[in-house]
Amino acid sequence: MYFLIRKLLFKLQPETAHYITLSLLKLAYNCKLLNKKKITAPKQVANIQFPNSVGLAAGLDKNGEYINALSALGFGFIEVGTVTPKPQPGNAKPRLFRLPAANALINRMGFNNKGVDFLINNIKKAQFAGILGINIGKNFNTAIENAVDDYVVCMQKVYPYASYITVNISSPNTQGLRNLQTASHLQNLLTCLKDQQATLAKRYQKYIPLFLKIAPDLKLEEIDEIAVSLLKYNIDGVIATNTTLAREGVQQLSYGNEQGGLSGQPLFNKSLLVVKRLHNTLQDKIPIIACGGIMSVREGKAFLNAGARLLQIYTGLIYQGPKLINELAGISNIVIK
Ligand SMILES: Cc1cc2nc3c(=O)[nH]c(=O)nc-3n(C[C@H](O)[C@H](O)[C@H](O)COP(=O)(O)O)c2cc1C
Repeated sequence: MYFLIRKLLFKLQPETAHYITLSLLKLAYNCKLLNKKKITAPKQVANIQFPNSVGLAAGLDKNGEYINALSALGFGFIEVGTVTPKPQPGNAKPRLFRLPAANALINRMGFNNKGVDFLINNIKKAQFAGILGINIGKNFNTAIENAVDDYVVCMQKVYPYASYITVNISSPNTQGLRNLQTASHLQNLLTCLKDQQATLAKRYQKYIPLFLKIAPDLKLEEIDEIAVSLLKYNIDGVIATNTTLAREGVQQLSYGNEQGGLSGQPLFNKSLLVVKRLHNTLQDKIPIIACGGIMSVREGKAFLNAGARLLQIYTGLIYQGPKLINELAGISNIVIK
């Protein structure tokens, strides 16, 4: 059934298809036409009880407009954002491209979002009872030296509404953002955010875990350095990975050389390497949430075997449809050693 719908949707511009699909999904949900799926395969990670291990990755619902409808597909958790302090339009269109022969997407959306206040309003309206991650970033025109301020503003605002907060320093579409992954920047950022977390935990009498989302294009030494920082600053989780700047295997395809981040099947091996490398240092002290090219049970199993505790999908949902959530949830507690 989904493949029939996909055939129609793939005739449209990718960004148009995106909004039509989400609007229809929300309409179906509101009209109670959507068969709500609840997949129970619970897992405790970062002191959160996840109903199942399969989450929606950030970027699909940047403004928190479709939380309940997306959750009804069976996800164990939903991550909204990336949200920035102020609204911003993102890059010029077209900025999202399909590469069907590679089961991949390239995007250079550039954190198009309506700002943190709009997101919070939507979260309040949703009255969502499930696990909600909120992914935060910086505005495109905030200098890297002042980036911490943007993260702090977002963190202060979203804290009361989040099950966990993801600090996104790995989007390739905001100039200079990935520099925040380098040791000196990262240590300053993590120091400030951990301070904020402690203050906010006191104020709201609840501890909200902080996850860091990293890129797949790091050198092995850089991954090791990040892992050491995660341990040093007691970060609650790490999401590996965001999209890649690499183009191996897709250069010959239409749109294969578009600027932006590549996601889906060609990303899998890179993300898996990052997860394995992180796990070498982190062991099970800090949970790893794997993301990148999970298109079937095969990739999901590989990530779990490499030490990941949870899985997130984006491109796999576009290409395989919601049945992928169910399939992945089924394997999420099985780790083949
Ligand atoms: C169109 C699009 C927009 C995205 N926007 C964001 C974003 O705003 N913040 C973020 O952290 N990741 C964003 N991502 C990255 C995904 O969350 C995910 O890390 C990446 O796509 C790899 O997973 P996948 O191969 O399952 O898609 C975006 C991905 C796509 C395809």
